[in-house]
Amino acid sequence: MGLDVEKIREDFPVLKKTVNNKPIIYMDSACMTLRPIQVIDKINEYYREYPSCGERSLHKLGKRVDEEVEKSRNIIKKFINAKRMEEIVFTKNTTEGINLLANSLGLKQGDIVLGTDKEHNSNLLPWQKLASEGVKYEVVMSGKDDNFSFENFKEKMNRGVKLVSMVHMSNLDGTTTPAKEIVKTAHENEALVLLDGAQSVPHHPLDVRKLDVDFLAFSGHKMMGPSGIGVLYGKKDLLEKLPAFMVGGGTVVDTTHYEAKFEELPQKFEAGLQNYAGIIGLGGAAKYLMKIGKENIEKHEIELNRRVTEGVEGFERLSLIGPGEAEKRGGIISFNINGVSSHEIAMMMDEMENICVRSGAHCVHSWFNAHKLDGSVRASLYIYNTPEECDKFVETLKRVIDLMK
Ligand code: ALA
Repeated sequence: MGLDVEKIREDFPVLKKTVNNKPIIYMDSACMTLRPIQVIDKINEYYREYPSCGERSLHKLGKRVDEEVEKSRNIIKKFINAKRMEEIVFTKNTTEGINLLANSLGLKQGDIVLGTDKEHNSNLLPWQKLASEGVKYEVVMSGKDDNFSFENFKEKMNRGVKLVSMVHMSNLDGTTTPAKEIVKTAHENEALVLLDGAQSVPHHPLDVRKLDVDFLAFSGHKMMGPSGIGVLYGKKDLLEKLPAFMVGGGTVVDTTHYEAKFEELPQKFEAGLQNYAGIIGLGGAAKYLMKIGKENIEKHEIELNRRVTEGVEGFERLSLIGPGEAEKRGGIISFNINGVSSHEIAMMMDEMENICVRSGAHCVHSWFNAHKLDGSVRASLYIYNTPEECDKFVETLKRVIDLMK
């Protein structure tokens, strides 16, 4: 059964707005999604009804916060099919989850970390920083077809590799790495695997137990949750062994002037007062997505992507980034128009028809530099986008290209 997009759109207040008497066509969901009223209400519920501190407060409001936070943890556990609540650590975002691991895993001089050539800066800089301290960071290059190359991966894989830290779905071109096979090969070589799930978690069915992945980091703002909240999933036995990255209030049971007794999981990783409204809103977002169903989301995005891809086929000077087949790029259409800057195109699309797309390097400067490109225009689709919006995108892009002759 397809998505009832018109019904879904009713949930997004911003889609009811017009600018210059035209609706807003939002195609920047890979950066940040719109939020439905159910999530906005859940955030407001915290501020209106129990705007208080959790962390085992003994009063009624604080108890309610604790209850709601744990409810949210449980929803997230179901959302990615984790085995235990303690495996869900709330962070600020994907970036913080990755930094937490980079600072806690205890990687030593000579240990190898493997990434791909399409890593977001958030899954690159933490490893480059360790590389300046003697850890080796190595890159698995994509194959000729712009997809993940298992051959190149296997060539790099050996017993020196301690961690494979890879993007699951690329924000650059929408391609997906074969996570299950990567995990299997890494484990055969006694390496751990961290997936950057910032783009995959909101769009694909994802089951951490089926993948057998060791760690997964993702963000709320890309899955219709609040900004400033994210999740780090880790297998319990692994998280238990790691020292806390940030320490402080909430992470300890007791302290003396010179010693501390740390909390169990997950609190030992959740330092300081938490973003309660964010956590509670994130639970609301995961619930909303589960109700719609990730299979339906993925199918809808690919249908729309196909419509855009076919629509722009043959456009003068247009070159797509990534594989030609829409089904290999999820909801992402990343492209360049030869001779025109990506920013100029994005600004014109916005100016002419309120079409919000992103331009530039999308925090994957390393890939663009390696390909001698400044950036790209990127349209990224989600559940609230319609076929009519896709047609408007294609028609407007054609007008922009004609104007730039
Ligand atoms: N991660 C952000 C994006 O892809 C910057 O737009």
